[in-house]
Order: sequence, then structure tokens, then C-alpha cells
Amino acid sequence: MKTHVSKLKKSKILVTGGAGYIGSHTLVELDLAGYDFVVYDNFCNSSKESLRRVSKLINKNILFENGDIRDSEKLQQLFTKYNIEHVIHFAGLKAVGESVETPIKYYDNNVNGTLVLLDCMKKNNCKKIVFSSSATVYGDPSSTPIEEDFPLNPTNPYGKSKLFIEEILRDVFISDPEFKIVLLRYFNPVGAHVSGTIGEDPSGTPNNLMPFIAQTAVGKREFVSVFGDDYNTHDGTGVRDYIHVVDLAQGHLKAIQIINNITEVLTLNLGTGNGYSVLEMIKAFEKASSKNIPYKIERRREGDIASCFADPSYSFEVLKWKATKTLDEMCKDSWRWQSNNPNGYK
Ligand code: NAD
Ligand code: UFG
Repeated sequence: MKTHVSKLKKSKILVTGGAGYIGSHTLVELDLAGYDFVVYDNFCNSSKESLRRVSKLINKNILFENGDIRDSEKLQQLFTKYNIEHVIHFAGLKAVGESVETPIKYYDNNVNGTLVLLDCMKKNNCKKIVFSSSATVYGDPSSTPIEEDFPLNPTNPYGKSKLFIEEILRDVFISDPEFKIVLLRYFNPVGAHVSGTIGEDPSGTPNNLMPFIAQTAVGKREFVSVFGDDYNTHDGTGVRDYIHVVDLAQGHLKAIQIINNITEVLTLNLGTGNGYSVLEMIKAFEKASSKNIPYKIERRREGDIASCFADPSYSFEVLKWKATKTLDEMCKDSWRWQSNNPNGYK
């Protein structure tokens, strides 16, 4: 009896950008839940070492291809080689400041890259995608907590690239309702896998607060610059919704588990619903690491907003998911990663 070869291949999740910070943690959760995956990454902001560590954690070889999402030929080879049923699309550039300096690079990588990926998905009849969007699409919200139907007003090319991709995905769905699309708007991912073997490894000076605090605690930086203490918040410093990266990774797993049932483009906040100030983060990290973390109050960083935290109730309703890890766990896990790997994956 003849059976079509492709039918024999077990279906896989294509994880673009799977070697990166959030992607690597998601691979662990996918594996725990029994999903097979293939990673596609050009390693422009990551290294193969993260995949080697994930492989050790899950005790399995990882399938991966080194390639760019803008390379349609290479993507086609991937779709031919594997039976790809879902895509979790992490690949993208994410530095806000750099996006202001080099908008063309950001739009090309993020927007054009996603178009090439979508074209390839459609040609190969792969129509399920979970996309990494960001709370940055809300811009400066008029109130908090932020609900998914709040106005969208990103203020930099990075944020706009996320919003443009969201809009493109909505149009793709209108043109072909067989598409199953989940847009996940992350708040502020922090923390690391509890093993301390994978984590966030920013290149150069970190832009984000948590890796900066961690590098100060480990002695790589002299002090934390607190960008402004005159915001309209309880202690004057900026308030954000920090979410443990493993909670975030589990949100992706839930999205994959319900994706077959959705009948419209699903847009969800992935946050905890709690806002913590910069000073509270420094104090929490001091407690978790038993290190003194010097800081200096400096002037506001351009483009920053006072307060940003999620209303996560719709995500809970739809995904039956909510973040469970505490601020102390976020700090302890970040510290374990940072102190075990003072130079990241290098
Ligand atoms: P990351 O930089 O650690 O991971 C992104 C990965 O994508 C990297 O491994 C990089 O090498 C890869 N990549 C980038 N461009 C590519 C391309 N053209 N082709 C193939 N691979 C490419 O970032 P992360 O923190 O893991 O973020 C993952 C996604 O989540 C990104 O899309 C980011 O914009 C989004 N996001 C991140 C945050 C955050 O604070 N970390 C917040 C909201 C949204
Ligand atoms: N902050 C400092 N000192 C630092 C770094 C940050 O005081 O060295 C403050 C900021 O002013 C802000 C808070 O710490 O009040 C958090 O700043 P991050 O840079 O860590 O995070 P942002 O909220 O500015 O932005 C992050 C990502 C964006 C993403 C957004 C989504 O960098 O890509 O979260 O909410 F879009």
C-alpha cells in the first residue's frame, strides 16, 4: 500500500527565533507537554549555546536550522523537510532605541520577515501562528490596567513594527479565515529557568531594567541608573508588569493547545496584572540575591511612560492561564542565572 511520504512525518511546531530568550524557555515547556519542534534562527541576537543548554535540560537533540526569516528559499526547504503544523513566531529585533536609529533595518527584519514567513506558510498550507507582540503597541495608556481593546499608539519603529504585523495578520485572516492566529502582547519578561542554565543574555550594555540590576548585583556594573523619580506613581519611579519568562512560555503552550478552537484573531495580554516600580525591583533583587545594589536617580529616559500593567482577565478566560510566579521567584531565578553565568552564554 502506498502512503504519501509527508503524511508519515510527525507534525512539528516551527519556532522562529527559538534560540532567543523567550524562545529557549518556550522550547522547554513545549517538550514537557510532548510537542515536537524545529527551531529556525539566524543567531543575530543569540547563540547555539542556548540550544545546547535546552537540549541538555530536555535530554534530547534539538532540530534546528540556521536561517533568516527573510530567506524564502531556505524557509521553503524547511517546510518541505518537515511537516509543520504550527508556527510560534518569536524572530525579530527588539531594541527600542536601535529601532529609532535604524528604522529601515527594523521594518525589514520584523515586518518584511513576517511577510516572507506568512507567504511560505500559506503556500505550504500551514495556517496556525502564534505571534510575539508587545505591550508597547498600547503606547502611553490613558489608564491602567490595560485591556486588549485599549487604543493602540506605539511611539517608536519597534512598537510600530509589532502593530503593523498585527494588522497584517488581521488582514490575512480576513482573506483566508482558515488561518488561526493568536497575537500575544507581552508585558515585561524577566527571570530565567529555575535550573539557572538558560536565561536572558543581552549583548553589550543591557537596555532593560532587570538584566541591568542583575549585572550590578554580580559586580559587572557599578550602579543602576534609575530613570526618573518624578513620575505620577506611588514612589515616583516607573511602574511595569514584570512577568516570569516561564509563565510567559506556558502562555504560548496554552495558545497552541486552544488554537484549533478559535474562530477569529485572538489578541491577548500576557502579564501578571501587578505593577512594580523601579525602586521596588531593586529592593526585591537585593533581598533575593543578598547583595547590595547601588543606584542613582537620573533624569527620565526619553519615550518612557509612567505606568504600564496588564488586565490579564481575558487571557485567563480564554487560555485558562495565569502567571503564577512571584516577584521573589523572578528575582531569585534571574540571580541564579546571572551568578552562574556572569558572562551569559559566552
Ligand atoms: P531575543 O532577541 O532573545 O530572541 C529573538 C530571536 O530571533 C534571536 O534568537 C534572534 O537571533 C532571532 N532573529 C531575529 N531576527 C531574525 C531573522 N530575521 N531571522 C531569524 N531569526 C531572527 O528576544 P526575546 O526577548 O526572546 O523576544 C522574542 C520576541 O518577543 C521578539 O519578537 C520580541 O520583539 C518580542 N517581545 C520581547 C519582549 C522582551 O522584553 N523580551 C517584550 C515584548 C515582545
Ligand atoms: N529603567 C531604569 N533604569 C534602567 C533601565 C530601565 O530606571 O537602566 C526603568 C525604565 O525607565 C522603566 C522600567 O525601568 O520605568 C522598565 O524599563 P525596561 O527598559 O526594562 O522596559 P520597558 O517597559 O521600557 O520596555 C520593555 C521592552 C520593550 C517592550 C516593553 C513592553 O524593552 O521592548 O517592555 O511593555 F515593548
